[in-house]
Amino acid sequence: MNNYFYAEDDAEIYDDTAELTQPEYLAIHRVAAQLLHRGFAAWPHESAGTQSVPPNHGNGPLVFDIGCGTGMEALALLRLSPQATIIAFDKSEHMLSILSRKIHEAGGIEEGRLKRVVGDILDPRWTGEALRNLAPYARPFDAVISGFLIHHFSSKQRADLYRRVFESLSVGGVFVNIDLFDFQSPTLSQYAEEVGEDWVSQQLSCNADPAYQPVIQRLSAQVGTLRTKWLQHLREENVPAPIEPTEASVAPAAQGNAIRSNSQMLIDVGFIEVGCPYRFWQAGVLWAKR
Ligand SMILES: C[S@@+](CC[C@H](N)C(=O)[O-])C[C@H]1O[C@@H](n2cnc3c(N)ncnc32)[C@H](O)[C@@H]1O
Repeated sequence: MNNYFYAEDDAEIYDDTAELTQPEYLAIHRVAAQLLHRGFAAWPHESAGTQSVPPNHGNGPLVFDIGCGTGMEALALLRLSPQATIIAFDKSEHMLSILSRKIHEAGGIEEGRLKRVVGDILDPRWTGEALRNLAPYARPFDAVISGFLIHHFSSKQRADLYRRVFESLSVGGVFVNIDLFDFQSPTLSQYAEEVGEDWVSQQLSCNADPAYQPVIQRLSAQVGTLRTKWLQHLREENVPAPIEPTEASVAPAAQGNAIRSNSQMLIDVGFIEVGCPYRFWQAGVLWAKR
């Protein structure tokens, strides 16, 4: 299987292409890191079972990163929260090996603060309990984060994942989903899709913004093929759903088939607060508190 959300073949150029293919990639990640950082600053970390955990063995914030890739969110968090431990989960061994390389190159990050797990989050054996068992002392997570993954999943897969995420979190824990979303309005959804495609068409070309020219030169001969593949990916493999409820999705008769909104799904599985602190066309940060 080779597509852009299972980036095995293009793992080595993932970091180079992330900004070229996703407008505001860095800003979106910054908001997600700020959300977690602020949450951790306020928490006494008294989730069940924590008292029995000895110091320096995971009694700082515990974060589960689904589809961690080459470590954009994991590395930012490890730097921001010196006590944080991260379980970095990805289907691609290659992406995880790049994350390891980056941790090593960055230096100063204690090995034990990052645990790498190769796995497919769609595999039903990853129940909430199985996910928690990845943590030291099977402690529930203080936060679950995911970046640019879940918009590839069907409605059913998404609902099921949200339930397992909820089950893996401590009470008061948060889920932060950096992702692509539709709007309530089909017109706005269409505009957002076009803005995304325009961005890829421009940045993966000789008309790229000056800041990206060095990367374009590095990618040189691959740029045309990458542009074609990315545009195809955006059109054929992305299935974003709106954040806000849509009329169609709440109408009882439509419930079987309609795309259920992300906020509805999160509330359905038990989250008590849901919000979207950042939005740039399709991309956004969805936050939910257990
Ligand atoms: C677009 S990348 C995002 C990487 C990183 N989170 C970021 O924001 O830059 C998506 C990642 O999800 C991983 N992935 C795709 N499907 C997955 C699955 N079913 N289970 C776990 N990881 C998956 C891919 O291997 C890839 O590393």
